[in-house]
Amino acid sequence: MSALGLWAVVLLFAVSRCAQCRFQTLEHLRPAVRDKVQTEAVQELLQRLLGSRARDFLLTVNRSIVGAEQQTLDRFELRSLLDGRVSVLGTTGVAVATGLYRYLSSFCGCHISWSGDQLEVPSPLPRVPGLVRVTSPNRFRYYQNVCTYSYSFVWWNWERWEREIDWMALSGINLPLAFTGQEAIWQRVYISLGLNQTEIDNFVVGPAFLAWGRMGNMHSWAGPLSSSWNKNQLNLQHKILLRMRSLGMLPVLPAFAGFVPGAITRLFPKENITRLGSWGHLNCSYSCSYLLDSETPLFQHIGKMFLLELIKEFDTNHIYNADTFNEMSPSSSDPKYLSSASNAVFKSMIQVDPLAIWLMQGWLFVNKPSFWQPTQVKALLHGVPLGRMIILDLFADSRPAYSFTESFYGQPFIWCMLHNFGDNIGMYGTVETINKGPFEARSFPNSTMVGTGLTPEGIEQNDVVYELMNEMGWRREPLNLTEWVMLYAQRRYGKKNDHAVAAWLLLFQSVYNNTFYRPDHNRSPLVHRPSLKLDISLWYNKSDVYEAWRQMQAAVSDLFPSETFRYDLVDVTRQSVQLLVSEFYEDLKNAFLNYSIVGLQTSGNALSHDLLPELDKLLSSNRHFLLGHWLETARSLATNEKEADLYEFNARSQITLWGPGGNLLDYANKQWGGLINDYYAQRWDLFVSTLIKCLKMRVPFNQAHFNQIVFQVEQNFIVNKIRYPDKPVGNTFEIAKKLFLKYYPQTIKRFN
Ligand SMILES: *[C@@H]1O[C@H](CO)[C@@H](O)[C@H](O)[C@H]1NC(C)=O
Ligand SMILES: *[C@@H]1O[C@H](CO)[C@@H](O)[C@H](O)[C@H]1NC(C)=O
Ligand SMILES: *[C@@H]1O[C@H](CO)[C@@H](O)[C@H](O)[C@H]1NC(C)=O
Ligand SMILES: *[C@@H]1O[C@H](CO)[C@@H](O)[C@H](O)[C@H]1NC(C)=O
Ligand SMILES: *[C@@H]1O[C@H](CO)[C@@H](O)[C@H](O)[C@H]1NC(C)=O
Ligand SMILES: *[C@@H]1O[C@H](CO)[C@@H](O)[C@H](O)[C@H]1NC(C)=O
Ligand SMILES: *[C@@H]1O[C@H](CO)[C@@H](O)[C@H](O)[C@H]1NC(C)=O
Ligand SMILES: *[C@@H]1O[C@H](CO)[C@@H](O)[C@H](O)[C@H]1NC(C)=O
Ligand SMILES: *[C@@H]1O[C@H](CO)[C@@H](O)[C@H](O)[C@H]1NC(C)=O
Repeated sequence: MSALGLWAVVLLFAVSRCAQCRFQTLEHLRPAVRDKVQTEAVQELLQRLLGSRARDFLLTVNRSIVGAEQQTLDRFELRSLLDGRVSVLGTTGVAVATGLYRYLSSFCGCHISWSGDQLEVPSPLPRVPGLVRVTSPNRFRYYQNVCTYSYSFVWWNWERWEREIDWMALSGINLPLAFTGQEAIWQRVYISLGLNQTEIDNFVVGPAFLAWGRMGNMHSWAGPLSSSWNKNQLNLQHKILLRMRSLGMLPVLPAFAGFVPGAITRLFPKENITRLGSWGHLNCSYSCSYLLDSETPLFQHIGKMFLLELIKEFDTNHIYNADTFNEMSPSSSDPKYLSSASNAVFKSMIQVDPLAIWLMQGWLFVNKPSFWQPTQVKALLHGVPLGRMIILDLFADSRPAYSFTESFYGQPFIWCMLHNFGDNIGMYGTVETINKGPFEARSFPNSTMVGTGLTPEGIEQNDVVYELMNEMGWRREPLNLTEWVMLYAQRRYGKKNDHAVAAWLLLFQSVYNNTFYRPDHNRSPLVHRPSLKLDISLWYNKSDVYEAWRQMQAAVSDLFPSETFRYDLVDVTRQSVQLLVSEFYEDLKNAFLNYSIVGLQTSGNALSHDLLPELDKLLSSNRHFLLGHWLETARSLATNEKEADLYEFNARSQITLWGPGGNLLDYANKQWGGLINDYYAQRWDLFVSTLIKCLKMRVPFNQAHFNQIVFQVEQNFIVNKIRYPDKPVGNTFEIAKKLFLKYYPQTIKRFN
């Protein structure tokens, strides 16, 4: 504490001397590790990326290359050296890594992504004409959503994290969330408060649901967490933090938002603890969290215990996330209450770390605008001194909040692209908004924007949108999307193929070009519980996707060796099949309305016994689309069979029923090999046979009754005990071709 206090004095002194920066209070958010350490870290990254070719580069971190007036902004400089090497100089490890990726992509035509790398680096290295110097217009480039921990990261080991942190650095991220392992800290806090292990075990949620346990949305579901889980996550977090910090990132740690286990009432019977309303259609056995009154000294006491223990374990970069009212309305809309509530959260941070900055998601303002009127928003935000919090404008790619809150009433904010819900797989993007939004936000009257960011609920899909958004973090004006995507199609496969370029132009003008707001979940009937009332409307012209499918198929012989091409071939075929499912769905509905049993049998058979099994085969042939991988990585973290079964239960539940009764049914749907056959196709099969039965018995289709019987099918999937392969099976080339030859002609037929 005293060491921290001393730092505070020194840093606050430094802060007070910065006249130019708009938010002097954010000045101290800088990498703590020395330039030399950052240089070594980014050199090691390069070694992992390029192996022996690493020696062709000279990487240097030097924070003094920017003048005093720009000292908080990241910069990189590229130049060719006389000996043929390329020098990348930058203000932080992240800045150097970003410069390196800029060189590799712009000069060498390389590409890295979640679905594969294309790293054919020319020899000798292409020369950089003169000096390329890029300074980021903003302090921060943020990454992660609290939900990404559950939908994507939950089963990751260090190897996968290491790769992701490399990706972050190359993508320019300098402000990542670092939420792993916090349950291990809470475990200690709860025990020292006097709870017993049974009470803790009854309260916590399972690994796949930690995001919502942390936000107070739910409790007591799919747990408990074993001590080995906590220990493992703690170790992982140490490695993650060490690596992030060594690259010059500022990891954001969690702080106390006010949620406590119900059993706390045993220890403090006189405390004022309110129960919030239910969340996510869960009943109060699993939601209706206990929230401590922010006025009570116990609030500060617990907040302090947690943060002290956390900092003791992990050290800190002075920035913390807490969300008290995420998707849950406060018990009062009185501005005084809201100000004191946010002030209490902030106070619990600064009593431990006087330099604390509070990072808060701005999702609530968009999610519940009826509650969050200007007075309420302002009250909550002004409960904290201006500049001591940063708001994530979480869904700015569709519904920015800065514009209707006068730029968050003076608090700094980060323009974020959310893009993805539930880690659904499906092509989606708002490229025009991404290419405009950050610039509009920056030039908004009295704008308080301090960065750009990525806040997807899930990752490892739609690489292209993330690559585009990452570029925005370093730009001062929009780019030419047509030109950009044509180059992207070349880099991604390592060579120019006109068919592939044509496919990408079509995708960019259709699936990736949502220009008006709609719910962005994958709403394909394929991944939803069958009913006669599914919404199959689209934001794009499906013939563009079918044509892209044809173009990709035409590029196969040229590009098949490329891993990223194979991924995209599977993905475009998958997207086309998803559209075909909608066509079959319409046929089924029409057949039913026309009392045609034959029509139902024909379309039903084609759908559940041909198209979907073929899709399952296709997905099973690519390592990025495997149910088995999700399940096996879950099991691999267990120390015994019982734990492995619990993790598998978590993994299977999250992507299907979600909660105990199908509470957020199919929210996190996935198009994966294994899941198509044994979950989605089963449901469609049951739907068709039910419709046929209805026609035969001359009774109307009863959705409520169908829901009851289909729930059995859904539950059966969770306990079916089948082990799905963790490695791809089958020949993508053959399967994709067969699907195309059989089904592409049908798309033509339907349009003529
Ligand atoms: C860092 O850059 C500054 C400003 O250009 C320069 O004076 C200094 O020598 C550099 N430091 C190192 C270690 O190269
Ligand atoms: C934990 O506390 C509960 C009361 O909340 C009590 O019923 C239970 O016996 C205790 N369990 C242990 C293992 O001490
Ligand atoms: C909540 O639902 C579960 C089953 O989904 C049930 O077992 C439990 O009794 C319910 N709790 C309440 C408080 O209704
Ligand atoms: C208890 O807390 C709630 C909100 O947290 C507040 O509205 C209420 O007035 C408090 N009750 C008492 C008795 O302090
Ligand atoms: C911007 O801030 C200035 C100074 O606080 C104020 O006078 C002006 O009205 C603000 N402009 C807008 C458009 O809010
Ligand atoms: C964008 O690039 C395309 C392809 O090079 C070009 O045809 C188009 O005119 C450019 N658009 C603008 C606005 O410059
Ligand atoms: C997206 O759609 C808009 C409006 O339909 C159009 O003007 C724009 O050119 C499209 N953008 C791309 C990248 O195709
Ligand atoms: C969709 O694209 C096709 C082919 O370019 C075109 O014929 C059709 O009119 C378009 N449909 C709509 C609704 O724009
Ligand atoms: C029923 O079938 C007739 C003739 O095949 C067709 O014209 C009509 O559109 C169908 N009705 C529905 C609701 O599909």
